[in-house]
Amino acid sequence: MPGGEKIKKKKLTVNLPGRELTLYVAADIEALITDVSDEDKVPCWADVWPAAYGLAYFIWESVDFTPGEKVLELGAGMGLPGIVCGLKGAELTLSDFNPLALEMAAENAGRNGIEVNFLQEDWRSFSSRKKYDYILASDILYDPKLNPFLGKIFHNNLKPSGKIIISHPKRRATYDFLEDWYDRSIFSQECFTREVELADSLLTNYLIMIHILTLL
Ligand SMILES: C[S@@+](CC[C@H](N)C(=O)[O-])C[C@H]1O[C@@H](n2cnc3c(N)ncnc32)[C@H](O)[C@@H]1O
Repeated sequence: MPGGEKIKKKKLTVNLPGRELTLYVAADIEALITDVSDEDKVPCWADVWPAAYGLAYFIWESVDFTPGEKVLELGAGMGLPGIVCGLKGAELTLSDFNPLALEMAAENAGRNGIEVNFLQEDWRSFSSRKKYDYILASDILYDPKLNPFLGKIFHNNLKPSGKIIISHPKRRATYDFLEDWYDRSIFSQECFTREVELADSLLTNYLIMIHILTLL
C-alpha cells in the first residue's frame, strides 16, 4: 500500500448552501486494492460516500453546536461530515483504523481551515474511553459482524445527553442494528431524510436516512 503522499488524488467540490468546500479523495480506488480476500483491506475509506454527503448537508442546515462541544466521527474516511461540524464550531476528532484515511482526512480538514484531533482505532479493540457530545456514523453500520462493536463504542463514548447521528442509504444491516440495539428507554430517536445527487456516480440519486439518537 503506498503512503498517503503517493496516492493519486482528485479534487472534489462540495457545495453547501453559502459555502464551498474542497476535498481531495483517491483518483483510482482500484489501485489501492492490495488483497481482495481481506475485508479489512477494502479501500472504502478513500472516497466520500453518498451517506456522508447527506449527513454533511443535514448538519450544515440543521445542527448547531455550542463552542467546544466535542464530536467524534467513527469510520471517518475522508472526514466530510466531521469537517462540517468543525466549520460550525465543534471540537472535532476523526477516527478510522486506516492511517492513510486519517492522513488524507487531515489534509482535507486543514484545507478547509479546521483543526482536528485524530484517533487511530479499530472498532473491535477500541480502547479510548473519552466521552463526546456527538458521535457520527456515516455508512459504517453495514456489517453484522462489526455492528456490535460499534454499539459498544456508542455506549462507552457518549456523554450523558449526547447524540449519535447515523446516516445510511437505506441499508438493511443498519436498520437491523437499530432494531436490535435501540432501546427507547435509553435513547429517543428522530429520523430525517436527505436527497443526494452525485453527477459522476453509477447511481446519480440517493435517499439518505438520518437517525438522531439522544441519550435520555
Ligand atoms: C463505507 S466507508 C465510510 C466512510 C465515510 N464514513 C463516508 O461515509 O464517506 C467505512 C469506513 O469505516 C472504516 N472502517 C472499516 N472497518 C473498520 C474498523 N474495524 N475499525 C475502524 N474503522 C473501520 C473504513 O476504513 C472506512 O473509512
